[in-house]
Amino acid sequence: MVRGVHRPTVATIDLGAIKSNIKTIRSNIKEHKKLLAVVKADGYGHGAIPIANAAKEAGVDGFCVAILDEAIELRDSGFTEDFLLVMGVTELRDVALMADLNISATAASTEWLKDALPLLKLRKTTNPLRIHLAVDTGMGRIGLRTNEEILAFEEFCNEHEELHLEGIFTHFATADGEDDRQVERQYATFKEQVASLKQRPEIVHLANSAMTLWHEDFETDAVRVGIAMYGYNPSDKTIQLPYPLKPALTLETELSYVKQMHKGDTISYGARYRAYEGEWLATLPIGYADGWRRDLGGQTLLVEGHRCPVRGVICMDQCMISLPKEFPIGTKVTLLGENNGEINNPSDMAVEIGTIGYEILCGISGRVPRNYVDNE
Ligand SMILES: Cc1ncc(COP(=O)(O)O)c(C=O)c1O
Repeated sequence: MVRGVHRPTVATIDLGAIKSNIKTIRSNIKEHKKLLAVVKADGYGHGAIPIANAAKEAGVDGFCVAILDEAIELRDSGFTEDFLLVMGVTELRDVALMADLNISATAASTEWLKDALPLLKLRKTTNPLRIHLAVDTGMGRIGLRTNEEILAFEEFCNEHEELHLEGIFTHFATADGEDDRQVERQYATFKEQVASLKQRPEIVHLANSAMTLWHEDFETDAVRVGIAMYGYNPSDKTIQLPYPLKPALTLETELSYVKQMHKGDTISYGARYRAYEGEWLATLPIGYADGWRRDLGGQTLLVEGHRCPVRGVICMDQCMISLPKEFPIGTKVTLLGENNGEINNPSDMAVEIGTIGYEILCGISGRVPRNYVDNE
């Protein structure tokens, strides 16, 4: 993907905000708990490596990613010793590579372990594959469910020196909601599952951001924090944050074309918007190929503190907004972040279009350059 460095559309990421959020979260969790930074999906669109560097500076205890390639990117970028967990199920053919790179693997069935074993036996080095057993307590995604299965899994690990059961974890389905009943049920199941093991693994973990923010009292050894580290509320607007976090990302562009319209002039594909007489209209060099989805067309963009509505449908590379008056070409436009006291927050927009803040952040495409500042 080509990065558009010759146009003014840029995402600016404040690494100071990331570090500040980590310190805030750290001071609100129990001292013995490891804080694992979730940097999957290119750090939720913020850039995995700069975020991981900032997170390390702020003292996190390791990283979680979704797929092996993301873990390899970290190892290749100098995170050679850090704790690193791939939270998705890895292809069997890659288990030896994971062990070689000292990456912790998620395993969700004893069959997977059995199939991985011969591949691990072929390795020349002797360090075992570090394994985190995923248990399903109600998310219905991956993981063992019965105590018998869990015990058999543990026994199989114990019988083979190529395998080291380092952790057990689960994932919660409703931690960002107001109703705690499912959370309580999942926690009770998890506790029972952990208790069914002959030996408690070193790292028992269950908490994403929502669990870390709103259910920190649950007994575990680590939290896996993603969205909160980036400064956003995992529930968007459903539940208030228990403490303030700083949004790290600003998405900005500039007016690239400005003109005054006549009554009835049409705008964009479908010619569905018709201007009013004298309306000032600006074109912006950002569109849905940059992640500014067509369904964000109802959201206002910020120009010198004015909320400017989008006119007509968002195109692939450009979109049009209505200005309250003439502004010069090159005037800054804020799509996400603060502009003269007005704030566009991805959570607010997500609620408006029936999605979640995560999707808006992850959706900012690779064509948009990421610039880094540190306003700590
Ligand atoms: C298993 C697991 N743990 C932790 C996280 C981090 O979630 P959050 O960004 O809500 O903190 C995710 C993200 O989806 C996940 O899949």
